[in-house]
Amino acid sequence: MIYTILLASVGFASRASAECSRTMLQDATASYIKAQGAGNPALLPLAANASYLENDVHLDIKKSTLSKAITIDFDRSLYDTTLCATFTELSAATDKNPSVINTRLLFTSDKITSIESVVADTGDWVFNATSQLSWTKKEKWNTIPVAKRDLRAVIQAAGDAYLDSWGDGTIKAPYGTPCARLEGGAYTGEKNPTTNSCFMPEFPKPFKVTNRRYIIDEELGGVDVMHDFPFIDKTKPDGTPASNFIRVEEGRIRYIHEVTVCSTKNCGR
Ligand SMILES: *[C@@H]1O[C@H](CO)[C@@H](O)[C@H](O)[C@H]1NC(C)=O
Ligand SMILES: *[C@@H]1O[C@H](CO)[C@@H](O)[C@H](O)[C@H]1NC(C)=O
Repeated sequence: MIYTILLASVGFASRASAECSRTMLQDATASYIKAQGAGNPALLPLAANASYLENDVHLDIKKSTLSKAITIDFDRSLYDTTLCATFTELSAATDKNPSVINTRLLFTSDKITSIESVVADTGDWVFNATSQLSWTKKEKWNTIPVAKRDLRAVIQAAGDAYLDSWGDGTIKAPYGTPCARLEGGAYTGEKNPTTNSCFMPEFPKPFKVTNRRYIIDEELGGVDVMHDFPFIDKTKPDGTPASNFIRVEEGRIRYIHEVTVCSTKNCGR
């Protein structure tokens, strides 16, 4: 009897800590895409105290990108039921101001308490929305069969190893074959789609990627890491807003997307 009660309460505790449902996150993401399309944040399930961060700057949501109607050509999202959060990449190539927007939504009691976006447009690192759209559409980020799903920790470790390898070449990122990287609008998989073209050599030291924030989705094998990318932006050597959106299959990296914001044209390079 006591054992049964104990089991029942363990079951309840684990349900209570399985923070939110995938359906709720999917519905909220659909609202987010509609809201950004219309430039109307009122379409979102926002908490009264929701905060908004765009390219590492706190903004009044009414003066943000989310309040500008944007033509969205393509979207791809992750649903993190453990963290109760989502990630969405919007490709807006046919908009009058072409952009690629990476957004994290964080939830409490099914309401959005935090929005963080990396908004890249013309002049940002190797930016080309037309090219970005055409390559992302060709990729396959299908649901991973249950038996082949990686643990959360494995997916995160793959993403971290990639970011860590930039500053320390002795760290081997678990690249798969094939592996392709979509950086701004530049695609490494264009010439050799069957090989690993993701390898990134070491940057000049010291090189430390800070302010990492993760969204992980085991069903899609996806992790997004927002962070501050050092070195690249000549006026911001300590780091500029960036996002790496990575697909992992059986522990190996299949796709990498990167958007990096530059304070001057192409980060002064
Ligand atoms: C916002 O309110 C929620 C409760 O609705 C609370 O859990 C959360 O910590 C608050 N966030 C901030 C930034 O104050
Ligand atoms: C962007 O990419 C498209 C498609 O690859 C190409 O046709 C176009 O010339 C590129 N634009 C710029 C400004 O490089």
